[in-house]
Amino acid sequence: MRIVVCVSGGGTNLQAIIDGIADGKIRNTEITAVISNNKGAYALTRAAEAGIDGIVLSPKDYETRDDFNDAFLKKLEELNPDLIVLAGFLVNIPEAVVKAFRGRIINIHPSLIPSFCGVGFYGLKVHEAALARGVKVTGATVHYVDEGTDTGPIILQKAVEVQEGDTPSVLQKRVMEQAEWVILPKAIDMIALETAD
Ligand code: GAR
Repeated sequence: MRIVVCVSGGGTNLQAIIDGIADGKIRNTEITAVISNNKGAYALTRAAEAGIDGIVLSPKDYETRDDFNDAFLKKLEELNPDLIVLAGFLVNIPEAVVKAFRGRIINIHPSLIPSFCGVGFYGLKVHEAALARGVKVTGATVHYVDEGTDTGPIILQKAVEVQEGDTPSVLQKRVMEQAEWVILPKAIDMIALETAD
């Protein structure tokens, strides 16, 4: 299975995928390219170090959002991956991309959907909201991407305990270590095995 991973920041989830392929936890999979909307993303360094092509496609480099959306779709069609993995990609996926790759786009979200998800819930904001609400359990979700924000069918979820004295960044790190870096590679492996059938 050929995958394209889309990133915006640190790329720890990308790293978990690279490591998962290297150590055999993700079978039958290769990363064709990494797309970042942010040319300074550390994720691009991780890609380069693993010998993977890094592509920068930023809405800032286009006159209109439609122009960016067209370029994004064109690039994906050119790469023609079996699966697109959104690993901390903070760009709205254009409807045309969802249509062209229906059932072939997955996203990792740092909460137990349907809690703390939807428009405006990304990165640290998710954990700030979870702590503000006082939940005792949070976690992460891998889901298919549809036209909505975090509304597509759920593939895997994993719960993580909130601990006394947690700050948003402490909680974020625990959710990444205990849930995201586990269920994202696992979901890709599951889909790769289905694809091989
Ligand atoms: C991760 O926690 C991911 O779940 C989150 O952004 C972070 C990216 O970290 N994604 C979202 O909030 C999407 N709504 P990373 O660049 O180190 O993988």
